[in-house]
Amino acid sequence: MIKITLNNKPITLDVDPQMPLLYALRDELQLTGTKFGCGAGQCGACTVHLNGKAIRSCITPVSAIAEQAITTIEGLADTNGTLGESAVQVAWREFKVPQCGYCQSGQMMSAAALLKEIPLPTDEQIIEHMQGNICRCGTYKRIKAAIKSASTNATVTKNGVEIFDARQLANEKQGA
Ligand code: FES
Ligand code: FES
Repeated sequence: MIKITLNNKPITLDVDPQMPLLYALRDELQLTGTKFGCGAGQCGACTVHLNGKAIRSCITPVSAIAEQAITTIEGLADTNGTLGESAVQVAWREFKVPQCGYCQSGQMMSAAALLKEIPLPTDEQIIEHMQGNICRCGTYKRIKAAIKSASTNATVTKNGVEIFDARQLANEKQGA
């Protein structure tokens, strides 16, 4: 039995400790937003957050996440006020980023982790951080534009989702 916090809720997993987290999410917990791509840590389709940092769930055994916090795409918008999260999903919609969509939950999880770490990333920082997330449809330009938008937009959108003010956060961090 392995206890974790999943999308802000405590749960217990009764699986082989060596089972990849991706399989536990998809097959045991029916959280199918996280995708299987390469199964070898090379494509980013399976990206989730471990304690707020992006990890590849296909190469992370369940035993490695005991007593820790996992966030999946299903929980990304539920962490009210956590910087970089709902803002990413709003920007993805506004820029119509997905094409086939298969890689996009992993892309958004990586982008959200980036914005938590670096609220106002440069183009180079975005490219460097996102380079492990492969998109066969070639949506990279829209991904970069959406990340830029999510990092700088401080307005309330037409669907009522408030986007955080990354500039203010950056100033606060500098002053801290
Ligand atoms: S499925 Fe995990 S990195 Fe490709
Ligand atoms: S949108 Fe098709 S693989 Fe990225």
